[in-house]
Amino acid sequence: MPFLHSESAKPQFTLERKSTGIPGLDDVISGGLPKGTITLISGPPGSGKTILCCQYLYQGVREGDRCLFLTLDKKVEGILTQTTQLGMDFQPAIEEGKIKFLYLNINKKLIYETMANEILSGGYDRIVLDSITPLSEMPIYISNIDLKENINFIEPEEFSPDGNIPVRRLHLHFIMQTLETSTSTALVTSELSHSTGNLSRDGLSEFLADGVIILSLDSTMDRRKITVMKMRSTKHSLKPHDIAIGSGGIALI
Ligand SMILES: Nc1ncnc2c1ncn2[C@@H]1O[C@H](COP(=O)(O)OP(=O)(O)O)[C@@H](O)[C@H]1O
Ligand SMILES: [Mg+2]
Repeated sequence: MPFLHSESAKPQFTLERKSTGIPGLDDVISGGLPKGTITLISGPPGSGKTILCCQYLYQGVREGDRCLFLTLDKKVEGILTQTTQLGMDFQPAIEEGKIKFLYLNINKKLIYETMANEILSGGYDRIVLDSITPLSEMPIYISNIDLKENINFIEPEEFSPDGNIPVRRLHLHFIMQTLETSTSTALVTSELSHSTGNLSRDGLSEFLADGVIILSLDSTMDRRKITVMKMRSTKHSLKPHDIAIGSGGIALI
């Protein structure tokens, strides 16, 4: 039976994964984030989104990955102070060029160009965008005629009868497509409000991302949780796991 010994009888490939750097989380998602995917990290303010993203990149630095942290928060120093307090000192890696923290100014017209250039030209293995919410809510001013001719990822039926394009959709498609093109393994955060049933503030990112992880707070019980809602090519539980923030950052408990 020569067929049984042929290449086709062997598994075609094993999916490469990136360790999250969060103690206990890799075990929940079959070893880590599938390489080349985009995962949405959604949760209310203070739930640990920024800390989780920093841990992911800190792990990347340890593994020799090229890392990029794109932030819409102009207080980059504040992020670094918080991570240093938690035992993650990024300063040596910044100085050695292993990681770049880049502030994106929402008030600058060329914000998308700056972001896309950095993502596509940097050769990054791991990218964090913290957060997508202000970008998805930013107005855009482009001629619709040009858009119809030049943007191929919007299907004709997505144009409304008056020729306009749902603006949020355009923003999100652009960001996600840029990250996908880069082939890095990315985390994108979204502010989550309790009032809607959505998994992101914009209600769309969860559909465009390959994975969705929710961070939640229960202030009356003084508890924090993490839930993996979606992860491409991965068997995972939907059960919320208790987490704590302490030395080293977030850990499953
Ligand atoms: N050194 C620390 N020890 C324990 N908890 C901390 C520490 N630093 C920050 N935190 C907790 O983490 C929260 C901030 O996490 P962060 O990732 O910035 O939240 P998000 O990005 O979701 O708004 C703080 O509100 C606090 O509850
Ligand atoms: Mg944050």
